Amino acid sequence: MTTTRRPIVAGNWKMNTTVPEATVLAAAVRTAVDGVHGVEVVVCPPAVSLVPVHAVLDGSDVGLGAQDAYFEATGAHTGEVSVEMLASAGATYVIAGHSERRARFGDTDDWVSRKVRAILSGRLVPIMCVGETLDEHDAGQTDAVVTRQVRAGMAGIGAHEALSVVVAYEPVWAIGTGRPATPEGANETCGTIRAVVADLFGAAVAEAIRIQYGGSVTPANATSLFAQPHIDGALVGGASLVAANFGAVVSAAAARHG
Ligand code: PGA
Repeated sequence: MTTTRRPIVAGNWKMNTTVPEATVLAAAVRTAVDGVHGVEVVVCPPAVSLVPVHAVLDGSDVGLGAQDAYFEATGAHTGEVSVEMLASAGATYVIAGHSERRARFGDTDDWVSRKVRAILSGRLVPIMCVGETLDEHDAGQTDAVVTRQVRAGMAGIGAHEALSVVVAYEPVWAIGTGRPATPEGANETCGTIRAVVADLFGAAVAEAIRIQYGGSVTPANATSLFAQPHIDGALVGGASLVAANFGAVVSAAAARHG
């Protein structure tokens, strides 16, 4: 299968790095990916570090993302941050529906959908996460779960908007466990996701939309994951906290592209 999809590798720093640590890591990432072409590179630091990291990345090709957003524009929502606020801090991507948000902070399919729509309305790029738990995986429900999550998360958006959505397939059992999905298994589920997108928005959108794999991606397994036709990059957690490792994952994506 030939594809013109531009790979996208995003680092999800989660709740790691103080502000000074985030700027040091961002500078190291900037250096590590300098000269790598053909890959969209994004770092997603904690919200408090968006502004200083944006300054560190100024003039580079490394994009800036937030880890979450609330879907309301303004108002009495103590502790939450709106899409417009994130954009004003320099973010151009926002992760929506990460499994940790779904499992621990009550993000439902409906909330993920509202967040995706809010992110699109703000003209930012949603990185929408889907993926099954270990119980669902063992019960053979993977396709049913990701189909439900993709349909729900992309509800109410048009084909043109869908084109800019990045879907991250992250099996919950593979996140932070050092036990990634097999490349073939990840590819199969990313193919299922692409088929759902085709059903919702047509074949052209399905062919163009980027689908990342996430869950224990490292320099050691990135090349075999990116060799799969439906995997267009990665959402990287732990390995994104070490600039050399993240840079190596980005290079693996560039090699696939080239
Ligand atoms: P991990 O996290 O790479 O540490 O498994 C991935 C993620 O949660 O996005």
